[in-house]
Amino acid sequence: MSILISPSILNSDFSDLTGELAKISTADYVHVDVMDNHFVPNLTLGLPVVESILRTSPLPVDAHLMIDEPDRWAPAFAEVGCASVTVHAEATAAPVRLARELRAQGARAGLALRPATPVEPYLDLLGEFDMILVMTVEPGFGGQSFIDGTLPKIERTRHAIAGSGLDVWVQVDGGISRDTIGRAAEAGANVFVAGSAVYKAEDAGAEVEELRRLATE
Ligand code: DX5
Ligand code: ZN
Repeated sequence: MSILISPSILNSDFSDLTGELAKISTADYVHVDVMDNHFVPNLTLGLPVVESILRTSPLPVDAHLMIDEPDRWAPAFAEVGCASVTVHAEATAAPVRLARELRAQGARAGLALRPATPVEPYLDLLGEFDMILVMTVEPGFGGQSFIDGTLPKIERTRHAIAGSGLDVWVQVDGGISRDTIGRAAEAGANVFVAGSAVYKAEDAGAEVEELRRLATE
């Protein structure tokens, strides 16, 4: 199972995205958090900024859409070139149709679950997705602490994927740091989003490598 690190730029300096992206060239993806102030109580950036990031980013873009009506808005993020587009299970009306649309545009399709959303209703649909994102904090803000109560869901998700024989990634997002990444990896996650842990570090690129090492241990 490949271990992938996807730093979130949410708490980086938006006035110098080119410089902030250059700091994380050791990572596998850049995680971009799109929030609409409806699905979550915070507002970040939308499609035009994502298009600018795509032009300047040395890394493929992992878009995490924390928005209402993803059925309407998400395909455009795939169309402009995001390598991965993740929508929330609680927000999409037709997850399978949407996942197929994202894949048809050449993106990986991700399904995100808030901490209180069970994975079980989606297990029969695993083949429609390339990644399940188990949120390890309530979505909306960076810098929150990791919720240990999400670990059993990571385990159940990984177990179901292993049983299905499918190659679906399990992403974790929220409160991932040197202290928590080992627990998430042990539970079965293989794609790690880290925002403040990476951007608050002296050397963001070295922190990515340290997180990768701790997840692989
Ligand atoms: C939160 C976002 C995260 C956030 C993670 O809703 O989805 O991607 O940037 O930030 P940290 O790593 O600081 O918890
Ligand atoms: Zn995110």
